[in-house]
Amino acid sequence: MSGPMVPLMYRVSSRRQDLADTVTLALEPIHERIAAPAPGQFNMLWAFGVGEAPISLAGIDGDVLTHTVRGVGAVTNALCAMSEGDQVGVRGPYGTGWDLDGARGRDVLVVAGGLGLAPVRPIVTELLARRADYGRAALLMGAREPGSLLYRHELEAWRSRLDIEVEVTVDSARPSWRGNVGVVTKLIPQSPVEPAITRAFVCGPEVMMRFCARALVDLGVPPSEVFVSLERNMHCAVGHCGHCQLGATFVCKDGPVLSWADAEQVLRIRER
Ligand SMILES: Cc1cc2nc3c(=O)[nH]c(=O)nc-3n(C[C@H](O)[C@H](O)[C@H](O)COP(=O)(O)OP(=O)(O)OC[C@H]3O[C@@H](n4cnc5c(N)ncnc54)[C@H](O)[C@@H]3O)c2cc1C
Ligand code: FES
Repeated sequence: MSGPMVPLMYRVSSRRQDLADTVTLALEPIHERIAAPAPGQFNMLWAFGVGEAPISLAGIDGDVLTHTVRGVGAVTNALCAMSEGDQVGVRGPYGTGWDLDGARGRDVLVVAGGLGLAPVRPIVTELLARRADYGRAALLMGAREPGSLLYRHELEAWRSRLDIEVEVTVDSARPSWRGNVGVVTKLIPQSPVEPAITRAFVCGPEVMMRFCARALVDLGVPPSEVFVSLERNMHCAVGHCGHCQLGATFVCKDGPVLSWADAEQVLRIRER
């Protein structure tokens, strides 16, 4: 049996416990593989016997798909509980991706909040791999507290480079924390990019994306150069069921990545 709604079988090839409630799974195909995904797209991951959930690509390495999952309910908890060798159904990839190619020659600003670092991680790795193609580059990361920072080792490695500025802030911390405290939006005006020639990629809780997008536009980044990734409840992920619909926009296929010029209109429409 095959078709857009039928998952392909993958196996967990590695599992890393990132945080108490968050796990990164690398998945390799058992037989057939899904079409090549792009950064910003998502897959529907099946925990057999439980259900499926949309999860963004946190890494793409040949046929191996990396997903970072926070356990918040039945499906995501089942995915987080998986061990190496367990089988996962994968259908996808779905949705629009981050257009990093379109940022060639421009400054690039990546702003992430909490688990939002997972979907933008492929932007940073791709940008660093083709660093000469872009102007100034910065990653601004916000988390609730130091213990909830994702990918700490990778953040440290990026931070030690001279060709990207990495700033981290937390909402609250013990006095021993020597970094920034406050919302990530506060870091935007100090970032080294030139607003008029910047493309910005923003991912995190919706309220954080709204504030960041507005701050970027206020600074002079054109709304068409600010990209956000929307999250809505999804079922089919292929534009059939209407679960993710906001007006004429199907977040599963017209999104999840939208320019702020479009997202701002869409977010004015009440969810069905
Ligand atoms: C495009 C897209 C990409 C996503 N990427 C990731 C990812 O990379 N990693 C990750 O951990 N999660 C991601 N999510 C969220 C993830 O899909 C939900 O957490 C998951 O569907 C919840 O299913 P569940 O059965 O575990 O919990 P449920 O029992 O269905 O829900 C548990 C709680 O989470 C809330 N919830 C359910 N779905 C969503 C959602 N889409 N957005 C916000 N709250 C929700 C419910 O209202 C409820 O309060 C993404 C969602 C979308 C739409
Ligand atoms: S999830 Fe079914 S239309 Fe988008």
